[in-house]
Amino acid sequence: MSIGVTDAGTGFSVEVTYAEGNSTLSGRFAPGTSLLRALVEMGVEIDAVCGGAGTCGQCRVRVSGAVSQPTQEEQALLDPDELRAGQRLACQTLVQGPCHVTAADARALTAPAILTEGQRQQVPLQPNVRELAVALPQPELERNPSDLEDLLRALGPTGEGLTIPLPTLQRLPATLREAGFSVRVRVVDRHIVAVAPAEEVRPLLGVAVDIGTTTVVGKLFDLRTGHALAVAARLNAQRAFGEDVISRIQHASRSPHDLHALQERVVGVVNEIVEELCAGRAQRSDILEMVCAGNTVMTHLAAGISPQWLAQYPYVPAFRAPLRCQAREIGIAIHELGQVYFLPGIGRFVGGDTVAVILAAGLDTSDKLRLAVDVGTNGEIVLGSRHRLLACSTAAGPAFEGAHITHGMRAAEGAIDRVDLVDGDIRCHVLGETAARGVCGSGLIDAVAVLLRAGLVDVSGRLLEPAQCPPNVPEALRSRLRTVRGERAFLLADQVVITQRDIREVQLAKGAIAAGARILMGLLGVTPAELDQILLAGAFGNFLRRDNAIRIGLLPAVQKERVSFIGNAACAGAEMALLSNPHRERAESIAREVEYVEISAIPDFQDLFAEEMMFPAEEGGEAEGPVR
Ligand code: FES
Repeated sequence: MSIGVTDAGTGFSVEVTYAEGNSTLSGRFAPGTSLLRALVEMGVEIDAVCGGAGTCGQCRVRVSGAVSQPTQEEQALLDPDELRAGQRLACQTLVQGPCHVTAADARALTAPAILTEGQRQQVPLQPNVRELAVALPQPELERNPSDLEDLLRALGPTGEGLTIPLPTLQRLPATLREAGFSVRVRVVDRHIVAVAPAEEVRPLLGVAVDIGTTTVVGKLFDLRTGHALAVAARLNAQRAFGEDVISRIQHASRSPHDLHALQERVVGVVNEIVEELCAGRAQRSDILEMVCAGNTVMTHLAAGISPQWLAQYPYVPAFRAPLRCQAREIGIAIHELGQVYFLPGIGRFVGGDTVAVILAAGLDTSDKLRLAVDVGTNGEIVLGSRHRLLACSTAAGPAFEGAHITHGMRAAEGAIDRVDLVDGDIRCHVLGETAARGVCGSGLIDAVAVLLRAGLVDVSGRLLEPAQCPPNVPEALRSRLRTVRGERAFLLADQVVITQRDIREVQLAKGAIAAGARILMGLLGVTPAELDQILLAGAFGNFLRRDNAIRIGLLPAVQKERVSFIGNAACAGAEMALLSNPHRERAESIAREVEYVEISAIPDFQDLFAEEMMFPAEEGGEAEGPVR
């Protein structure tokens, strides 16, 4: 992809060319605009994991022409040779005159394998969308009817309390007469959204969507049979505004225009997914309802509601209750009168996605004591059984997404995703079986676990120097220790290291999640030994190796057999709420009854967090092969 920026008098005319497709975009930007902002506004896909703070290095581009001097952040992340060759960070580089930018297409580079499937309970088919076939009496002069009254009367008890939106009413008289007064009535919730001739049989569809901070997954369902027809997934295009929810809130809070830009991005992705789901099998207008599970911030942004006050003390969301709106009100392109239902949240940063996980895993109906963890930039943790459930959210930060890590990247081609200790040295697996470009979250956890086992990292997280290593450390491992820009580091592969600072980032992330789990266990008065099961939800959890997650203390020290993966449980919960009204009601009762724990208000939280940043002294589980 090539971007040309030329002086245009009142600013700069910016031209974007995708080398792959030869398509061209152009825009005008004021002097002083960051290249990242220019690219984002033009709709260019670019990774900006740190949200423009200049710390992740993911927005790297090549620039020639009149731009600002490299900032300190760029000098810290790019070496002098790279800077001389024109490598820059788009978020740090300001347009100062005509310039030319070359960047890789992030979609091609980073499309990861997105986790679409999750375990869920089977549910009876009882959706919120119904289709009723009715025959109306012919109008007669002697009666004093109206078409609508006749329709509602023909529907019998089902017609009581139904409303008819104006567009349906506008078409009703003509449709009834064309159909000979024999029609199919489509109802969503309490609204008659369509009336069609009885012989016109169209698909009756719904979509369940998991709106994640990183990825968005949609599943199309036949609401007559309950069968899944298609699944589609995309990266969340909001990632150009930062990987974590706090960066997104900051951007959305700047102005109504910025809030709208974030909403447009996520709604655009959902609409792309809808288009793919329908391709060759249905029309968008056949989809009458969409059920969304998202965290609190994603739900706010998708609905176009500012999450600004979630990031300011005392951290109040605009709403927690289930939200129902017309799809077109928020730009979702399904049936013109189709509806969108957002699952309710539990509290602050514990949103509808966590409710969906509880629903799908049946935490609220089981006697088993279970700990469910969704490891993400915000780690959501739920503990308990049907007798009592507690939930909290911990700010784990984006380290496991590859941000703030020297050579961190998301789980995409070129990422080291597994590290093993084999014959006295390490063996790295690289996604796409190609040369390593960086290390993703699961590879990072593996690497730290391996360094702990080998004795190269101590319980405080200190990476030892060669002279400090225990005598039994094999030479192959010892020779990987080096100093990179004045910092201790361990070489994973050519050009890919894990540094002392990276290990500290892992400690911060795992410490936050472990402290959250420990606080919930303390409040419930249970110990790890009493846990019947630990459930790992979400994409990241699915790629973790249980023994390594236990070794670094991310998970409580239990037998690895008690750790299970439940996949994309958020999407699975949304499916249940789409297919079954009783389970939707169950979700609403989960949101009301699960006790939200604000861990930052726990008096000894900081002490517990500091303790949990330490690594366990001993192995907590036995080594195992990769679990997929
Ligand atoms: Fe530019 Fe992170 S360094 S977005």
